[in-house]
Amino acid sequence: MHSLAQAASPYGRGFLEKRMDEHSRTLINRLASEHALDLDGYEYLIAHADAAVAAELAVHAVAVRQEVYGTDVFARGLIEFSSYCKNDCYYCGLRAGNRECERYRLTPEQIQECADTGYELGFRTFVLQSGEDPYWSDDALCSIVRTLKDRHPDCAVTLSVGERSRESYAALHDAGADRYLLRHETADPDHYARLHPPRMSFERRMQCLEWLRELGFAVGVGFMVGSPGQTSATLAVDLKFVERFKPEMCGIGPFIPHHATPFAAEPAGTLELTCLLLSIIRLIHPPVLLPATTALGTIDPQGRERGILAGANVVMPNLSPGDVRAKYLLYDNKICTGEEAAECRGCLGARMLGIGYQLVVDRGDPAE
Ligand code: 5AD
Ligand code: FES
Repeated sequence: MHSLAQAASPYGRGFLEKRMDEHSRTLINRLASEHALDLDGYEYLIAHADAAVAAELAVHAVAVRQEVYGTDVFARGLIEFSSYCKNDCYYCGLRAGNRECERYRLTPEQIQECADTGYELGFRTFVLQSGEDPYWSDDALCSIVRTLKDRHPDCAVTLSVGERSRESYAALHDAGADRYLLRHETADPDHYARLHPPRMSFERRMQCLEWLRELGFAVGVGFMVGSPGQTSATLAVDLKFVERFKPEMCGIGPFIPHHATPFAAEPAGTLELTCLLLSIIRLIHPPVLLPATTALGTIDPQGRERGILAGANVVMPNLSPGDVRAKYLLYDNKICTGEEAAECRGCLGARMLGIGYQLVVDRGDPAE
């Protein structure tokens, strides 16, 4: 197990022994054995991180991921079915205030076609994602979920459609939806207010996550790395939140500016910090399903491979029809907007094989 972990580390061990400060080493060992640190510990680890700290964390994270999931990587077929959004998050290209964004909605039939194609390609989880689009009633969404589950009973359905009422979540769960992604974006209320307009509420976001959990969904949280106003201290709060909530999934990727948003001139998050946090989150909660995100692949051509080598175990290739992909732009320069579903799956499959992992045909449920 150790040799695989070492082979997977982009740095190598001799170099580490020399450079890492003693306190970081103590913290890493504590994190690996206790799966927890106090707030100051997380903050110190992040604030003092260098290549040696990142490499040491990756060695532990890969060993832990190896124990739980081996070298399997799960694929989620992402269907971006509506680009309409009523919200105005300052970071997001789909925000209502962006008049440049071309809006579209897939029909229920188109959504099923995407899933059918995905099934043929070996996907056993479908993620239905949209902006917060009130057009989709509970009945409409429930009927889509039911049809999907009827046609593909061996598949998991994940929803990522934002904040809704408890009743709505309950109806969607009853209709057969298995999982729900709702990134918390930041666990620090002041930072939340820096990223969102006043009518969006941190408390409501947290309430939604509690409801989803109570209703029996596998729940995905997550945040952007390097979002404006983020500090080692706010990230420590995010990690403490992950430690407490123990989400089944956690989506983290770098913030990337979108030219038509209030954050157009802000710098993007980095590959290094994103990979460091992937490793830490793997160690906090070993069974977590952790995607190497499209955003990570966008800031670096090897970003998704580097994410897997830091402890991630999920990829989310796009199944949306070719003609709408370029309209679902959360950030600038998004990759894979010109590809077809089969190309995306093939490309990612080859990339995973290239680093010693394999994409599997599997629902990819969270391990116990
Ligand atoms: N850069 C990176 N990620 C973004 N998201 C939204 N806008 C951006 C951006 N500019 C993320 C948010 C959201 C998820 C769907 O995409 O975290 O929850
Ligand atoms: Fe749509 Fe944030 S802009 S949910």
